Amino acid sequence: MTAILSLIARLATTSGSLRSLQEGVVKEISERLPYYDWVGFYMLDPSDPEMLVLGPFVGDPTPHVRIPVTQGICGAAVASGKTIVVDDVNADPRYLSCSIRTKSEIVVPIHVHERVVGELDIDSRSPAAFTDADRLFLEEAARIVGDYIAGTSVGG
Ligand code: SME
Repeated sequence: MTAILSLIARLATTSGSLRSLQEGVVKEISERLPYYDWVGFYMLDPSDPEMLVLGPFVGDPTPHVRIPVTQGICGAAVASGKTIVVDDVNADPRYLSCSIRTKSEIVVPIHVHERVVGELDIDSRSPAAFTDADRLFLEEAARIVGDYIAGTSVGG
C-alpha cells in the first residue's frame, strides 16, 4: 500500500484537475487491491452542502448518484467527520445498497482546512474486508486529495 500511496502522491503533482486526480486514484486503487470491488468518490455539492454527489468511480453502476448527508453510511461519515468501517453491511440499518454482492464497506472523509468536502467510498464482496491497514492507507490517500483541493481552490 505504501507503493500505491507514492503513486497517488505523484498523481497529485501531475494532475491538471481534481477530476483527473480522482480518476487516477480510483483506477490505481481498484487495479491493485482486488478485494476493493467498488471504489469511488462522493463530493459535497458546492451549491448544496447537505448533498453528496457521485464523482469518479470504478465498479458496478450505483443508483445512489446523490446522497443526502442524513442518509447512508456515506452521510454518516460526513456527519461524524470520521472514517466508518462496516464489517457486515446487511447488519447496518444505515446502509444504502449499491450491489447485492457487497458485504463490507469503508468510507473515509476528505478534509480541507478541517472541513469535510467529500469522501472516498470502498465496497468489498468479502465480509469484514477492511483492516486498520486499509483505514490508514485510505486516510492517507484522502489526505493527499484534500491537500490537492486546498492547493487549487481559490482563496485556499
Ligand atoms: N453504501 C453507501 C451508498 C453508496 S454505494 O455503496 C456506492 C451508503 O450506505 O451510504
